[in-house]
Amino acid sequence: MKSDYTDNNPSLGALYSGHLQAITARHDHALEKAGASHAVIYSGNPKVAFLDDSYYPYRANPHFVSWAPLTNLPFSYIVYTPGEKPVLLYFQPHDYWHVVPGAPEGYWTGHFDIRIVNAIEDVARHLPEQREKCIVIGEIEDETLAFGIERINPNTAINVLHYARSTKTDYELEIMRLASYRGVMGHRAAEAAFRAGLTELEIHRAYCEAVSHTDPELPYGNIVALNAHGAVLHYTDLDRTKPDTRHSFLIDAGAQVHGYASDITRTYSFGDTRFQDLIDRMDVMQRDIVNKVEVGVDYRDLHINTHKMLAEVLMDAELATGDPDTLLETGVTSAFFPHGLGHLLGIQVHDVAGFMENESGTTIDPPSGHPFLRLTRVLEENMVLTIEPGLYVIDMLLEKLSGTPAEKLVNWDTVDWLRPFGGIRIEDDVRVLVNSRENLTRDAFAAAS
Ligand code: GLY
Ligand code: MN
Ligand code: MN
Repeated sequence: MKSDYTDNNPSLGALYSGHLQAITARHDHALEKAGASHAVIYSGNPKVAFLDDSYYPYRANPHFVSWAPLTNLPFSYIVYTPGEKPVLLYFQPHDYWHVVPGAPEGYWTGHFDIRIVNAIEDVARHLPEQREKCIVIGEIEDETLAFGIERINPNTAINVLHYARSTKTDYELEIMRLASYRGVMGHRAAEAAFRAGLTELEIHRAYCEAVSHTDPELPYGNIVALNAHGAVLHYTDLDRTKPDTRHSFLIDAGAQVHGYASDITRTYSFGDTRFQDLIDRMDVMQRDIVNKVEVGVDYRDLHINTHKMLAEVLMDAELATGDPDTLLETGVTSAFFPHGLGHLLGIQVHDVAGFMENESGTTIDPPSGHPFLRLTRVLEENMVLTIEPGLYVIDMLLEKLSGTPAEKLVNWDTVDWLRPFGGIRIEDDVRVLVNSRENLTRDAFAAAS
């Protein structure tokens, strides 16, 4: 079935009750593990800058967002007791300085007992009287906001909730398709801005306009990198000047819908056919890796496999000589590709539970020599993760090869050729299926074309 990418996609309302059932079931289980009777989930509040009276952008507690699309409702609480309709303490202060949240509306409202609260101290009378039977889930910096509940974020409960969040409900998957599509709209606008010769800041603005996000609404700071800036893995400077020569463009940018993120990277050549050939080769490799995603695959193996596939690309591009195992063992592939293959994706861009072995909180380490891999699990149905191999000229890492057996395996003339282009990364968001997968990103690019 073709996805409906419009913001008022009617299937969200139909899918929501199934999602809420999953959320309540996982909270039932978390409460049982914690030996508690009520979960009180706090939405969080804006933080004030040091010695100032202005606030950092507000980010809602992801546990709160998992219940309902309430990404901008600070000082609010969900009170959940197994078997009862969840109570939403909806904070609507009498405040003439700021815009206050409007009346609750949307497909989710009928599923809650919504109580409007105008003053924070009024929260207390809506909470279960036996505070010792409650746990709070949320960031409580001011203990008065816990209203006498002493158990804040107990690991027993948090581990259960985090583990469960790594597989997505049908409702979440539909939202994430929308987030992918929205991101793709931005990527198309950004590519056009790059081809028109605009600065990084101007390209960034074109992106934000196309996804209709302010900067704080972006799921992460856009990486908009012209030329050699593409080799800085988390480049977020947004240069205001036009480079003298335009070689390449790497953009890593996402969008959000109802608090769920997309995380997409594309790399473009301005006209150089040799660099375009290398992008095409990386694109083939990235799609080959995506095609290996399915239930039961160990993501650590996929990461190591990627290094071997990258070794082939390095040899084809005359960046290195040897054989894949040697290039991996001598650290050549890691010098060109120093980050992990990808990570879980959801409410958080680097979503929780990437290392979790089970719901008790024991973890699985990354393979030795690969400390930046953020997903070490065996893949399960309906996980959503990224596949984002890269190839960069990072002199700081390549210099470390000199004086080692790797030095003579690298073709330094080709490295000199590639340096002004920075690097290549291609990143898709992929849902895991049995013997298959769904590529949210490529589906969205296809739908947008
Ligand atoms: N945008 C950050 C990442 O790709 O992980
Ligand atoms: Mn990513
Ligand atoms: Mn990314």
